[in-house]
Amino acid sequence: MDRRSFLGGLLAGVPLSLASLGRAEALPRQAAKSGTPAGAVAIASANGLEAVRVAYDQLVAGADPVDAAIAGVNLLELDPKDHSVGYGGLPNFDGVVQLDSAVMHGPSGKAGAVAALEGVKTPSKVARLVMQRTDHVLLVGEGARRFAAMHGFPSENLLTDEAREIWLRWREKLSTEDDWVAPPEDGEPGRQALFEGGPEELRPTGTIHLSALTPTGDLGCCTTTSGLFFKIPGRVGDSPLIGCGLYCDNDVGSAGGTGRGESAIVSNASHTAVEFMRQGLGPQQALLKTMERVVHLNRDPRLQRPDGRPNFNLRLYAVNKAGAYGSAAIWGGGKFAVADARGARLEEQAYLYRRQQS
Ligand code: GLY
Repeated sequence: MDRRSFLGGLLAGVPLSLASLGRAEALPRQAAKSGTPAGAVAIASANGLEAVRVAYDQLVAGADPVDAAIAGVNLLELDPKDHSVGYGGLPNFDGVVQLDSAVMHGPSGKAGAVAALEGVKTPSKVARLVMQRTDHVLLVGEGARRFAAMHGFPSENLLTDEAREIWLRWREKLSTEDDWVAPPEDGEPGRQALFEGGPEELRPTGTIHLSALTPTGDLGCCTTTSGLFFKIPGRVGDSPLIGCGLYCDNDVGSAGGTGRGESAIVSNASHTAVEFMRQGLGPQQALLKTMERVVHLNRDPRLQRPDGRPNFNLRLYAVNKAGAYGSAAIWGGGKFAVADARGARLEEQAYLYRRQQS
């Protein structure tokens, strides 16, 4: 489906009721503020089902929340078949893989991040070192790579053959006015077939966010990504920006996002969600209210459908200190991953708008 027919096919969405998914809205307002220890919880984007399982097991074994979150997301960072995170991630315009990641640690209130990092499969681990072993929060580009090398990370080629072929195919088909020539169609999957987010994500991003709550009520989170596919070299999304792609406050809750990073940046989406939880909203309600803010700020007609609604998606995930959790998106139809005492599973995501079924 091309962009025009996709947009033309979308009809007016309908607001979703705030019917609770998970434990979020069942909990009294005081519960989130009492500091009462809840059971461990790990919540992540839908690509993180195994990640939340790993993180949860670490949390019940007594791990620090950031360490547990990193152990979970490392599964995807090291997976060459995942084209949205770490090793095997799709490259930038020039064919170079540049990774963004950040961690935030509730008990200490500290954070660390790297952006446009090249040559390291696990940027989340480098982000943790920025938090633990520097007086800074964010290192970028060559400085981040040199910092990683100083801590013993080898410089590796992150561009798998499969990712390179996808990029090459995209580059060759980009324009009929340049000197690149695509081979005859050979039945290989085209660009759209690889995009899990669906056709509404006209410039797809892949990412994993994971928020973790320990059994004793401490919070931590991590977001990691290869960012917008075929991005302008040096482009940094929301994932490594504290308050945008992730945020946690140990008194309140933890939140993070995946999807169009630019919209999470201008809305400070993750910080906004935590502030709404601080005001007493359950996680799902806080995320839906944040989505309303995101939509309110989306005033560029280029990023709007004919009815004014966003032509992209953003997804947020949150857990509060009492163990209530939730997830919400602008556009419905997605799921999120969560693990708690009931096991690891995918649940339906709340949303602002629903596409009319054809
Ligand atoms: N949310 C990931 C990115 O925009 O890079």
